[in-house]
Amino acid sequence: MSRAVLALLRAVPLHRIPLTIRHSYDFGTDRDLVGHRLLNAQSWDAIRATAGPFGLPSTRTEWEIAAAEHDFAARAAAIAAIADDVAARRICSYGVGAAFVELNLARLRPDLELVCTDFTPHTIARLRELFPEAEVRHHDLLTDTPLDAGLHLFHRIDSELSNRQWRTIIPRFREPILLVATELLELDALLRELRTRRTATATDAGYIRTEPALRSLWRTSHRDRKVPIGRQPGFLLTPRLP
Ligand SMILES: C[S@@+](CC[C@H](N)C(=O)[O-])C[C@H]1O[C@@H](n2cnc3c(N)ncnc32)[C@H](O)[C@@H]1O
Repeated sequence: MSRAVLALLRAVPLHRIPLTIRHSYDFGTDRDLVGHRLLNAQSWDAIRATAGPFGLPSTRTEWEIAAAEHDFAARAAAIAAIADDVAARRICSYGVGAAFVELNLARLRPDLELVCTDFTPHTIARLRELFPEAEVRHHDLLTDTPLDAGLHLFHRIDSELSNRQWRTIIPRFREPILLVATELLELDALLRELRTRRTATATDAGYIRTEPALRSLWRTSHRDRKVPIGRQPGFLLTPRLP
């Protein structure tokens, strides 16, 4: 990219512009397993069966070790504090994947009921074995209605659905939603996306949005409060209408 284009991009106040772009990811040698498009249950099931950073470990001990990494425990503590704020006793997490945050939450607050869901049949079956503390269920956000909970957790799943899909799904939720964003689109992320999509092994992995674009997904149906969840940006959504 030329210096002039870079200077132009730097001058754009991205954090003020509602911009959604496609998100690409380079899975390297796992590309053959995932295919050119990640957004389906088979591809997610395939990547969860690997030993890489997206994998769900096969034993409880390995799973606990992986869940102790990063800031998962800090995120769980922040999520528990929000649950207390909204007086929720039952939390339902959608698109849990390897459920590292949810394991930390169950250990920190065994008094809370925890439901873990995803649309990946094989991963859900394995997670059910690993995670007896939680109710583990198959649930597809695109076709199933919200489950019974005092707080709905959307932890890093904003990337998975289009703007149109989220605008149909979010208004169906009548209890508070805690949405923890995967990443907000800022200059560094934009430059990375432009680089990644040029690589031969890039996989289409959904969407990445600036903060105004993300908030536009629920503006007509929900109010929000920005809440940091560990190092991730989070938004607590409450329905505008009772
Ligand atoms: C980026 S991963 C996040 C996983 C986990 N929440 C985390 O933060 O590590 C996105 C997850 O959303 C799930 N997902 C994608 N589309 C979905 C849908 N329509 N219904 C339910 N889950 C979905 C995928 O299976 C995947 O586990």
